[in-house]
Amino acid sequence: MEPIYHRLTSAQSDIVIRTQPFAEIVYWGQHLVHFSPLDCASLDRPIANGRLDIDTPITLGAELGRGLFGSPGIEGHRNGLDASPIFTTTQVEQNGQNLTITAEDKQAGLRLISELRLDSSGVLQIRHGLTNLRATPWQVDRLAITLPIAERALEVMAFHGRWTREFQPHRIRLEHDSFVLENRRGRTSHEHFPAMIAGTAAFSEQQGAVWGVHLGWSGNHRLRCEVKTDGRRYLQAEALYLAGEMALGEGETLHTPWLYASHSGNGLNGMSQQFHQFLREQVIRFPENKPRPVHLNTWEGIYFDHNPEYIMQMASRAAELGVERFIIDDGWFKGRNHDRAALGDWYLDEQKYPNGLMPVINHVKACGMEFGIWVEPEMINPDSDLYRAHPDWVLALPGYEQATGRYQWVLDLSNPQVFDYLLERMNWLLGEHPIDYVKWDMNRELVQAGHNGKAAADAQTRQFYRLLDELNRKYPHVEFESCASGGGRIDYEVLKRTHRFWASDNNDALERNTIQRGMSYFFPPEVMGAHIGNLRCHATYRQHSIEFRGLTALFGHLGMELDPMTADAAESAGYERYVQLYKQWRPLLHTGKQWRVDMPDATTQVQGVVAEDKSQALYLVSQLAMPDYTLAGNLRVPGLDPAARYCITLLDHPQISVVGKGGHTMRKLPGWMETTQTVSGEWLAQAGLALPILDPESAILIGFERV
Ligand code: GLA
Repeated sequence: MEPIYHRLTSAQSDIVIRTQPFAEIVYWGQHLVHFSPLDCASLDRPIANGRLDIDTPITLGAELGRGLFGSPGIEGHRNGLDASPIFTTTQVEQNGQNLTITAEDKQAGLRLISELRLDSSGVLQIRHGLTNLRATPWQVDRLAITLPIAERALEVMAFHGRWTREFQPHRIRLEHDSFVLENRRGRTSHEHFPAMIAGTAAFSEQQGAVWGVHLGWSGNHRLRCEVKTDGRRYLQAEALYLAGEMALGEGETLHTPWLYASHSGNGLNGMSQQFHQFLREQVIRFPENKPRPVHLNTWEGIYFDHNPEYIMQMASRAAELGVERFIIDDGWFKGRNHDRAALGDWYLDEQKYPNGLMPVINHVKACGMEFGIWVEPEMINPDSDLYRAHPDWVLALPGYEQATGRYQWVLDLSNPQVFDYLLERMNWLLGEHPIDYVKWDMNRELVQAGHNGKAAADAQTRQFYRLLDELNRKYPHVEFESCASGGGRIDYEVLKRTHRFWASDNNDALERNTIQRGMSYFFPPEVMGAHIGNLRCHATYRQHSIEFRGLTALFGHLGMELDPMTADAAESAGYERYVQLYKQWRPLLHTGKQWRVDMPDATTQVQGVVAEDKSQALYLVSQLAMPDYTLAGNLRVPGLDPAARYCITLLDHPQISVVGKGGHTMRKLPGWMETTQTVSGEWLAQAGLALPILDPESAILIGFERV
């Protein structure tokens, strides 16, 4: 059969797919201006000696039966039968930049429907649906999405992490075999953020070709980059199923999560900008399009020590500082005096709140702020009324002792009684109180997740989505934050139902610089919860100036995580200053294009946001450690209009002292810090701006205004 080719195209990137008699992506790269399907003939492969006598495509289904010899895209069986399917295309439908390919294996009784959508941002969304066409169940062991990438993608970047240290990038050079990232923690996880980026040698923020993927799924997952022995490469991503977890009855369909993929020909910035644009246009929805309000969250201020009178004083003080949304964290519900009890008992603690929640809510609103509250619905403490009444509601396998995590177990959301109970309690909370915002936490991993004796981790994730969907539908004005001990549940699928992520429980500004930078590869600042913490950070016991803490929180959705009543005058003045600065700049920060800059000295970290129309930009220069060099060099500023001239302003800085006033890093400041300068965008991009020499753990904010 003559091959037929389909192209999906965007200003950034194109995908060309052969669809007959099987589906194979033959090109995923830069946008093609002069494409003709006839060109594809140039890729007609030779057949090597010493192996199969046929050409073996890397198809969308990556079927082993075609002689792939690599990691297949589909594994499973029907009591041992029908275990090596090969799919033949039966139908192809292209609608603009959406392509649906239906394929069947009549022998195995299976149908595979692949959906591909190329968004105008350049982001490709792709998923498979597998249907069992026979009466006996087909046991799904694996169902993955496979994307071939260019042979020149020699390096792979992924993220490792842990509680209080999320999104840490690492890299390997991959010449043979596979690099695999597996997550069995039952939530997106701090440890294995579901993303992988492959790129040309030494790809960087501003250089090289990269192919990045993110799996939108808040459960177990597996991602892989594989180099076949013939040198071809592919990225593969899937939800990871526990043994026996997934079986399809007759006519049932299993969908993979959506995979989001972006190609950039000019480094990681191009990739991130596409992902950000895609999220802004297609996923993120803020009720009434509200600007992101300044938060004050009570957790690191008062912990479990709730006294409504005092909380109202905190709220008044917060409002004076410019806070716009006041959130009561953990500790408000019955018997919740420490983290060892009460999860599950979603009733107000009447000892702490004898007059109910309403006086506090009314006070917060009278101060002109929104009101938010913390919940952790998926969890149960053994020491709770709920557990004493329903010990069988725990997500577990019978006959085993479950380990607790933070003294808690997980509730089995596949049990309809559990689901209804949680819905009823959330209806009480959100239906009977004027609540604007919910911080939805999830502080334990899933271990032996079981329902009716069978593995149920995948089902748990789906039920969690269903619960949030229900609440979003009923309370469309309420915003939700996804928190899981900080950044343990950050992904695109949960973002469809939430409005903010708590990026990390670590408010140490130094640590936050790397955590937030890692998160910025896939998420724009307006969904990244970033709080000014206590002077002495609770996670690290380190101290940072208010300037460093304030500027670090500025490049996210800013808030405070402290008790404003205990702050001295200097600290309070600082809070007020950064709240003001944030309010002034959030329209730009939350809509502009984000840039990360390659710096010769790894101790200097630079990021910026440039307005869509290039009229304004903000650049943040953070000095993370003692500089390697005595001079800080020139910052070459990307993203500005080369033909325009920009006035440069130092908007914020630490106490920089020069010699004569007790300084130690500089005898003289760079010229632009002493007299106002106006410089062309081209010059700033090509030649740059001389940076001051900064102390470790400090930052400056530079503004560029088109004249
Ligand atoms: C988790 C969250 C914190 C806080 C506590 C409350 O650790 O990440 O921000 O809400 O729970 O118990």
